[in-house]
Amino acid sequence: MDIRMAPMEGVTDAIYRRLHQQHFGCVRWYYIPFVSPTQHHVFTPRELRSIAPQYNQGVPVVPQLLGKDPVHFIWAAGEMQQMGYDEVNLNIGCPSGTVTAKGKGSGMLRDLDGLRSFLDEVCAHSPLPVSVKTRIGFDSPDEWPLILDALSSYPVKELIIHPRCRIAFYKPGTLRPETFDLARAYHLPLVYNGDLFTCDDCEALQARYPGIPMMLGRGLISNPALARELNGGAGITTGEIRSFHDALHDAYRSQYPLEQAHSRIRELMKYMACCFADAEKPLKAIRKSTPATYEAAVARLLDCPLRDQPGYAAQIWSS
Ligand SMILES: Cc1cc2nc3c(=O)[nH]c(=O)nc-3n(C[C@H](O)[C@H](O)[C@H](O)COP(=O)(O)O)c2cc1C
Repeated sequence: MDIRMAPMEGVTDAIYRRLHQQHFGCVRWYYIPFVSPTQHHVFTPRELRSIAPQYNQGVPVVPQLLGKDPVHFIWAAGEMQQMGYDEVNLNIGCPSGTVTAKGKGSGMLRDLDGLRSFLDEVCAHSPLPVSVKTRIGFDSPDEWPLILDALSSYPVKELIIHPRCRIAFYKPGTLRPETFDLARAYHLPLVYNGDLFTCDDCEALQARYPGIPMMLGRGLISNPALARELNGGAGITTGEIRSFHDALHDAYRSQYPLEQAHSRIRELMKYMACCFADAEKPLKAIRKSTPATYEAAVARLLDCPLRDQPGYAAQIWSS
């Protein structure tokens, strides 16, 4: 199966992507969380730690841009071409209020004339092919047919669809998977993204759309072996979670101050806790932990039995 790792700002950084590939693999493309080019036409040191080739050696990555100014987008795409990339992804799905208030991310879905003039410029002048990651509307899925009409007039390399509106953010019960059918009528190369949390979820999607590439976010972070299992490999073991966790924690401690390393690894363990049954209490201890008490809390979690279908579970993650 063609599995992509979704970009997740603050979660899937270069360290995570490299170690995920070493420990589990089976991901065709790792999408880098967005960078947002400004009028200064320089990348910050933080952005470079995410996109520069030396931080992504041997890992198949696709960089992502967020912005509404075609001049800055085209500049950034040129820089990415020089770094050796052969595709750039445009984010028109980000629901964050600070992003949409500036008319960026899913804010671009509210102004389709603006989106068209942006894409006119970008598709005429981008030195790299552009793929697009979108939602199906800002306020309502009724906006989807017009959004699709607009997007389908451009030579987008791929269209990654998260079938939720912006106002739904990531809330459970708000996904509208049936809207994917309409996109299939346009003969665009499509990728499906959204709420694919377990092997069963992914297999059901494949039964409905055979061969469709799938982008996995929370499901793959929660169960890092999900892509391997979907490709016929073994399911995750507690020993693997332990060694992946230790490699991540060591790498974070060598790159960040103690507190920052602790908050990064703790965030990841909130997701990986979803692999375990009866994880609520140890997870609470992980959430409340300090750098000094963290290891004992993780050991408690790893003593729990694995669930039958390890994968993201909102009730565990938010417990
Ligand atoms: C913490 C977090 C950070 C995210 N950062 C990005 C991002 O940088 N770019 C992007 O296109 N989507 C981002 N997303 C959205 C994910 O890529 C994905 O579309 C979303 O999680 C739905 O997929 P899932 O149901 O498989 O998790 C983010 C989502 C979360 C929860």
